[in-house]
Amino acid sequence: MSSPLVIAANRLPIREVMTAGERTWQRSPGGLVTTLEPVVKAQHARWVGWSGGEGGDVEPEPFEHDGMLLHPLPLQETEFTDYYQGFANSTIWPLYHDAVIPAVFDDQWWAAYRTVNQRFAVAAAAAVAPGGVVWVQDYHLQLMPAMVRSLRPDAGIGFFMHIPVPPLEVFRRLPQREEVLRGLLGADLIGFQRPDCAENFRQLAQRVLHLPVRGEAISAGGRWVRTGGFPASVDAAGIEAFARRAGVSAYATQIRAELGNPRTVILAVDRLDYTKGIEERLAALGELFDEGVLRAPEVCVVQIIAPSREGIDTYQDLRARIEAEVSRINQAHPGGVRYVDRAVDRARVVAYYLAADVLAVTPLRDGMNLVAKEYVAARYDCRGALVLSEFAGAAAELRTAYRVNPYDRPALKSALRDAVQAPPEEAAARMRTMRDVLRQHDVWDWATTFFAALEEARALPAQL
Ligand code: ADP
Ligand code: F6P
Repeated sequence: MSSPLVIAANRLPIREVMTAGERTWQRSPGGLVTTLEPVVKAQHARWVGWSGGEGGDVEPEPFEHDGMLLHPLPLQETEFTDYYQGFANSTIWPLYHDAVIPAVFDDQWWAAYRTVNQRFAVAAAAAVAPGGVVWVQDYHLQLMPAMVRSLRPDAGIGFFMHIPVPPLEVFRRLPQREEVLRGLLGADLIGFQRPDCAENFRQLAQRVLHLPVRGEAISAGGRWVRTGGFPASVDAAGIEAFARRAGVSAYATQIRAELGNPRTVILAVDRLDYTKGIEERLAALGELFDEGVLRAPEVCVVQIIAPSREGIDTYQDLRARIEAEVSRINQAHPGGVRYVDRAVDRARVVAYYLAADVLAVTPLRDGMNLVAKEYVAARYDCRGALVLSEFAGAAAELRTAYRVNPYDRPALKSALRDAVQAPPEEAAARMRTMRDVLRQHDVWDWATTFFAALEEARALPAQL
């Protein structure tokens, strides 16, 4: 049976995990799932994606899970290394995050990237109803829009990039830069987290492919392709309603008690990634402890880290360095850092938000950062202070956070100190403003605006 709306993303919202020979399903990590899951449920869409396992030639049957129709696709072992760990996460991921570490280029990875994109395109093209919509997600599937178009010219094709798009000077290093741009330009609408990323993309089309640009539209292959900024968001009302449950605030009280009832809890919640600025933040916090500005155990830092991309050396090395810094701080300042190195369940994350006086979100570069938005959504009591990197997409909306340049160590320390010492009225005023923004720009606003723009883009005349 075909579906009017097919979402294609590298991962399904749940992933297959083998524990002691038993197959179980766990929630997939990352912000993409947080954003898309409510939309897919509300629209009864079909979600095509990798099941998280490795190997296996057989395409498992689509199945229902928690109100969603999931359509799993397999990845071979070599595709896992070349497409997922290689081209997606060692070439594109670092390059698009302003090359905060050097991107690695390898021809063999590119071949696997094309093969997997083609597999996803064939599956989505076969699943979409006549005249329906295929909505392609993120940097893993940049070739897919053009592939779907050649298979299903009747379908509407949207693309949404969850990560940043770098300026020309960085992007042009990519050996396959033309093919990647042509792949994306198969869409009717290409959405980005921020208008400046859309602007970067139009410049890439102009300067790399020499295509005409008019306003937000790019002329490619005799069609006009629309582009724009559509900041992804969270189900703010849903998170607030959850946070208001008596059980959740009781849980928050219990968390503080388990920490020894410190006067101040500084929380950080990250997927383990070098883009998140975890090391830089721990170094700043360590110095604040060393200088006596923060005193343990009356101040306790809780660092919750969801392990990520564990097979890639850079991620393993980062993890070792983070753990070494946590040990150093705790030896010098017992009780200074509580380190939780696993994905905790969604309910527990919200309870941690309520338990935290300060949330520190200090990425070196981040497409959006939904942790910051979740914290604001959960704080219905208007308490708590948010320290937010100016290099997170969310900083453009959450303007009354304690903003900081995470590369500037003294500034990072000052922002953390200011947030810890924030007078309650000031913190409440800042939080109220951020909550007003989020109420208007939640995940429903994101999806509605994107779909409206997609319909408009499909109706664009060939000549503008
Ligand atoms: P990214 O997409 O790069 O992972 P985001 O901040 O946009 O970053 O989204 C991360 C999502 O994963 C959020 O919904 C957050 O609640 C969740 N998350 C991050 N770390 C953890 C963790 N340790 N345990 C549980 N959930 C986590
Ligand atoms: O956009 C952020 C993101 O890269 C998602 O695309 C991805 O699903 C998530 O982070 C987690 O990463 P991974 O799928 O590599 O575990």
